[in-house]
Amino acid sequence: MWSFPDRGDWATHIGNYRGNWSPYIPRNLILRYTAPGELVLDQPAERESTYARRHTCVRPPEARLGMVGSGTTLVECKLLGRRVVGVDINPDAVMVARNRLDFSYAPLDADYVAPEIKTYVGDARSLDLIENESVDLIATHPPYASIIPYSHNREGDLSSVHNIAEFAQEMRRVASECMRVLKPGKHCAILIGDTRRSKHFVPITPRVLMSFLEAGFILREDIIKLQWKMKSTREKWFGKKYDFYLIGHEHLYVFRKADMDEKVTRFRESMKWW
Ligand SMILES: C[S@@+](CC[C@H](N)C(=O)[O-])C[C@H]1O[C@@H](n2cnc3c(N)ncnc32)[C@H](O)[C@@H]1O
Repeated sequence: MWSFPDRGDWATHIGNYRGNWSPYIPRNLILRYTAPGELVLDQPAERESTYARRHTCVRPPEARLGMVGSGTTLVECKLLGRRVVGVDINPDAVMVARNRLDFSYAPLDADYVAPEIKTYVGDARSLDLIENESVDLIATHPPYASIIPYSHNREGDLSSVHNIAEFAQEMRRVASECMRVLKPGKHCAILIGDTRRSKHFVPITPRVLMSFLEAGFILREDIIKLQWKMKSTREKWFGKKYDFYLIGHEHLYVFRKADMDEKVTRFRESMKWW
């Protein structure tokens, strides 16, 4: 179980992008699952736009990451010396992320190499700018269906998908792309939460879990992430009094892609079972 009551406000992390994740999350994932210089992905896109090309910041070698939002993961990659690619469907988010990366960092650590950091406007369901099996870690944080709208019906924005079965189908496409771009034996982490509609619990997390297992991933971890200072409708209800429990946690699923020639039968209980 992970719980970060203070969120984390070092570097340029200010937490004012709705639904952003605490920098402790990508930081812990990066430290646990990658080595310096490796490539992290915060979910790529359809094709590199002129906009994206103009905003690509080239520095030393590679790493990649998806659904970049305000760039929390990118900032952590900069601090930890991991190459990274951040993709978001919304150009405004990519602008915010580039802005958050605009700080100088020169640690005393002699081994530190400033990493190459790339961003572009794109769709996590179609990562055709990212080569097959080129990524060391995917750390992704999609919208939780339509709980928080990130744009006004922008084409491809998953936060405009209200129907949960449809959302799970789209996440299945995201999962397939993750599977394609990830190197064998490497990890893909996704933070996802549930919601409540008509005063009843609506399970999103198990459907997203199944989407990733269906794409062939092996479940390595199911980390419960406690929520603090929630501002979304997951907390509020229009009524005089609450007659239900607030949803105070999310799931951070960590999946692994099987290694080349690895016999996966011993992991069958952690794989697609239906
Ligand atoms: C929960 S936010 C990510 C927040 C981020 N972790 C942070 O710390 O700022 C989800 C992001 O997914 C983006 N998004 C929605 N649909 C997408 C898609 N099809 N491809 C890529 N990004 C998408 C939204 O624009 C939004 O910025």
